[in-house]
Amino acid sequence: MTLSGNSPKILVTGGAGFIGSHTVVSLVNAGFEPVIIDDFSNSERSALDGLRAILGRDVTCYAVNCNDADIMADIFRKEAPIGVIHFAANKAVGESVAKPLKYYRNNLDPLLLLLELMPQYSVQNFVFSSSCTVYGQPEHLPVTEETPRLPAQSPYGNTKAIGEDIIRDAVTAQIPVKALALRYFNPIGAHPSAEIGELPLGVPANLVPFITQTAAGIRPSLTVYGDDYNTPDGTCVRDYIDVVDLADAHVQALKKLIEAPEGASYDVINIGTGRGETVLNVIKTFEEATGVNVNYVIGPRRAGDVEQVYADVTKANRVLEWSARRSLAESLRDAWNWQKKLMK
Ligand SMILES: NC(=O)c1ccc[n+]([C@@H]2O[C@H](COP(=O)([O-])OP(=O)(O)OC[C@H]3O[C@@H](n4cnc5c(N)ncnc54)[C@H](O)[C@@H]3O)[C@@H](O)[C@H]2O)c1
Repeated sequence: MTLSGNSPKILVTGGAGFIGSHTVVSLVNAGFEPVIIDDFSNSERSALDGLRAILGRDVTCYAVNCNDADIMADIFRKEAPIGVIHFAANKAVGESVAKPLKYYRNNLDPLLLLLELMPQYSVQNFVFSSSCTVYGQPEHLPVTEETPRLPAQSPYGNTKAIGEDIIRDAVTAQIPVKALALRYFNPIGAHPSAEIGELPLGVPANLVPFITQTAAGIRPSLTVYGDDYNTPDGTCVRDYIDVVDLADAHVQALKKLIEAPEGASYDVINIGTGRGETVLNVIKTFEEATGVNVNYVIGPRRAGDVEQVYADVTKANRVLEWSARRSLAESLRDAWNWQKKLMK
């Protein structure tokens, strides 16, 4: 861990959130100095306590909206970062259907502002949170970065596709930014210390928080949406990537950008394990890893669910020199320990 005030600074928008907070830890461990920008619209200040417990010190945090041009310019001037990792966004697919303008505003305006500010302050290195949602239900599996993107199924998904296009067009116009868009598959887990993790607001839309809340008795049962898909046990298949591994992928991405020659560049990289897991196997692995049973029922298919998607991670292995290390059982055990901490 580096405590020096001279470590290169990285702005981390959304740094108090699920993936952002874990990335802050990875950045510090790699010798960078993260500077969090988070308006706490989908996180709690207790995330900063968790970071302090893990790191043994405070991390600078600006509790502001990263769409405020004046404040952001001040932060760029004052902090003089060498890179930006842009996590801040709204991410609830269902809510995005009901409130599309909120999603287009919050997921795209800050991106435009960052791409305008970075050249003004000579900041070149940019990592963007994208998603495997841009692939929809692909024809061929596993999904490579050459797999065509399909029309988005939700305004949220569309903001990720448009976000990628905005960066590509900016770079094509020779705006001097080196950018990598990381297409995450399904992030799960928590820091092994159980000091930071995912804070789902309301009823979780994702499988693992639903499993942990059901195991904890917060929800009476988990509904498995469909067991008649063309998969090994009939339930949907996803590629579950541990959030600590995912955080490390950001550090690798940043290092590769810093090493790359100056000048505009843009690329997209899948971040997953390369393995597809069925819903029922995730439940079974959770039960084995924790010794806690999960009450579940099989329900009808859910509208909008793709049957299966998992990553080809060859490019991440080659370009980032990164691969996922943590097993599904480890991720689920950590998610459970985090759930237990939340209930204390
Ligand atoms: N978690 C997933 O399943 C997943 C999958 C693919 C992509 N992503 C993307 O990864 C990124 C991070 O996701 P996460 O799961 O950590 O979400 P999260 O909600 O836990 O974290 C996002 C953080 O950004 C903050 N924020 C939102 N809008 C802001 C704004 N305008 N100004 C300042 N702060 C703002 C929130 O308060 C929150 O702390 C998002 O861009 C998300 O779309 C997430």
